[in-house]
Amino acid sequence: MFVARRIPEPGLQSVRDATQADLWEDELPPPRDELLRRVAGKHGILTLLTDRVDDELLDAAGPDLRVVSNYAVGFDNVDVPACTSRRIPVGNTPSVLTETTADLAFALLMAAARRIPEGYDYVRAGQWKTWGPMLLLGPDVHHATLGIVGFGRIGREMARRASGFEMTVLYHDTTQATTEDESELRARYAELDELFAASDFISLHTNLTDETRGMLNGAAFARMKPTAIVINTSRGPVIDHAALHDALRDGAIGGAALDVTDPEPLPPDHPLLSLPNCLVVPHIASASHVTRARMAEMAAANLLHGLRGERLPTPVNPEVYEQK
Ligand code: GLV
Ligand code: GLV
Repeated sequence: MFVARRIPEPGLQSVRDATQADLWEDELPPPRDELLRRVAGKHGILTLLTDRVDDELLDAAGPDLRVVSNYAVGFDNVDVPACTSRRIPVGNTPSVLTETTADLAFALLMAAARRIPEGYDYVRAGQWKTWGPMLLLGPDVHHATLGIVGFGRIGREMARRASGFEMTVLYHDTTQATTEDESELRARYAELDELFAASDFISLHTNLTDETRGMLNGAAFARMKPTAIVINTSRGPVIDHAALHDALRDGAIGGAALDVTDPEPLPPDHPLLSLPNCLVVPHIASASHVTRARMAEMAAANLLHGLRGERLPTPVNPEVYEQK
């Protein structure tokens, strides 16, 4: 099998114990040609969201490939239909990172609202001379309106956090939650237009699909409040970054806090990084010790089940088990 990066122990350990693993040891992802070369003839591969799994890679791996285990909940890097048509199960790591990711989304929301990075820069730059009545003012978080786009597991955990701050919570998804869920989470369904117009904070929790790519574009920003703060812990391309840059620069919205970007990584000279109202962190939403270790165990379990020809604990294409 091929493991495309060092993942936390004990996930790595169980993979090592079980079988001969070809491990890519670098901090950076394997270059494409190296990846294609290393997967040749393998029975299983463990990939990260930086490794594209498509027909080219499946061809390079060859007919012995039995499983693709992705070390992430998101799997937009994997061409799932291509795997399904070859009857290759694909695994991901759902649920274990739900609360950890919502924690970071809420931390970004608070940091952007209360201008924590700007305050930190100000102190470090030696500019702190006195208590300032007008210094670094921002919007309140408590009792504000939060719009959640994508009301899956992570979006719902975001709603739970918001209710501690007595926020009004609107959500949008392709399907509406049950009345019981809505009342438990104190969230109300809204069409996107209403959510954009009414929210002080807009937090994205969708998958990246053809429908969600570029969902936050110039037209969407134009509907938002000029004070609105956008938080993204989903996937970068859900936001049109050129439109975001213009909206932040021109004051169409108040701020953005991004864990994910397009492209990723964001180059240091990217125009977004010159804006004081844009906070960017390097895709760390699931980065707690416990969560990353659990993700490693799940990814290892998916890989090992697949190698043994057993059903993956968390397949994203369970239909491979139905085809005969
Ligand atoms: C990280 O972004 C993940 O999808 O797990
Ligand atoms: C996380 O587990 C999600 O898919 O929402």
